[in-house]
Amino acid sequence: MAKEVTISVIKADVGGLAGHSGIHPDLVDIAQTSLAEAVQEGVLVDYHIAWVGDDLQLIMTHTRGVDNVEVHQVAWNTFTKAADRASELKLCGVGQDFLSTDFQGSIRGMGPSLAEMSFEERKNETVVIWMADKTSPGGWNFPLYKAFADPFNTIGLVIKPNLHEGFRFEVLDIRQNRHIWLTCPEDLYDLLALIGTAGRFVVRSVWTRRGELVAISSTDLLNLERGQHVGKEDPVCILRAQSQFPALGELMEPFAAPHLVEGWERGAHFGPLMPVAQRESNPSRNDGPPRVVALGFQLAEGRLVGPRDLFDDPAYDEARAECNRVANYLRRLGPFEPGRLPLDAMTYTTLPLVMDAMEDRWETFES
Ligand code: 13P
Ligand code: MG
Ligand code: MG
Repeated sequence: MAKEVTISVIKADVGGLAGHSGIHPDLVDIAQTSLAEAVQEGVLVDYHIAWVGDDLQLIMTHTRGVDNVEVHQVAWNTFTKAADRASELKLCGVGQDFLSTDFQGSIRGMGPSLAEMSFEERKNETVVIWMADKTSPGGWNFPLYKAFADPFNTIGLVIKPNLHEGFRFEVLDIRQNRHIWLTCPEDLYDLLALIGTAGRFVVRSVWTRRGELVAISSTDLLNLERGQHVGKEDPVCILRAQSQFPALGELMEPFAAPHLVEGWERGAHFGPLMPVAQRESNPSRNDGPPRVVALGFQLAEGRLVGPRDLFDDPAYDEARAECNRVANYLRRLGPFEPGRLPLDAMTYTTLPLVMDAMEDRWETFES
């Protein structure tokens, strides 16, 4: 297709079944109907509805570019219809991700998380969508580093000339509203110096040196905006694979060695990110452990061919078993750090209320 295709992945938690562990099928049906209408009306080229845990994911293709008002309106209308049904069913945390109900042309800043990218469709266009529940945007730092900068993960960086150049990372400082560009391999140590602190420095996008966008993640910060914890900003990431980009398998390999993410149980604990098939993305053990689902598509003139549920594969059995072992250990720590998040990351949880109630009981200590 001559015109650029845009992929918009917009997601929201509009209510969980039961608790925060999963999604009600009516919400999926409502989203199917709503996006089918948007295809009929010519707003979208194609769509796929997915979910992970209690998060409803709208995967949409169109030719309207990023930040398009009609596409955002479709997503917003879909979420509000689904939230109405969630309200009738008295699901858990109805409309949890809505910061505002007044749509003014963009869904950005309204609560739902989004990742969008536009590009000219290649002869073979492989796209992967990572979607997580019970984590936060920095949860992608580790797999994005591994996939695009670690030659032991992505052997293409060593043996394939067009990957050999390396990739550029855009890193967001979420506390200071600023971003930095770091190019690997030369800035590798600077990159790691920042993104190891995933609660503050978040990889927003990855580019080739020639300026092609390869990966874009959602970086919306619900609790920072709201000033209190209601739910996590369970993030998504869109990635392109093959040819001048990492192979699909190189994008998947980081999840074979599970890492810890913020967001388990009340958004207040670290947990191992468990790679699962969509049907197994129902975190109920202490509302976790955190889950990641990956869907793979081929694009054909903007149509989404697929998906393949990429973690529906016994090759990740060991990773899942390791997550369960790590989960056993971390849960034994109960409210103790480092199972529980450090104090400054607890600002948007309910802990400050407990600390405030104790304030009058502190006495000056003279040594
Ligand atoms: P969600 O962000 O997935 O709704 O989880 C909220 C929570 O605190 C679960 O313990
Ligand atoms: Mg929820
Ligand atoms: Mg969720």
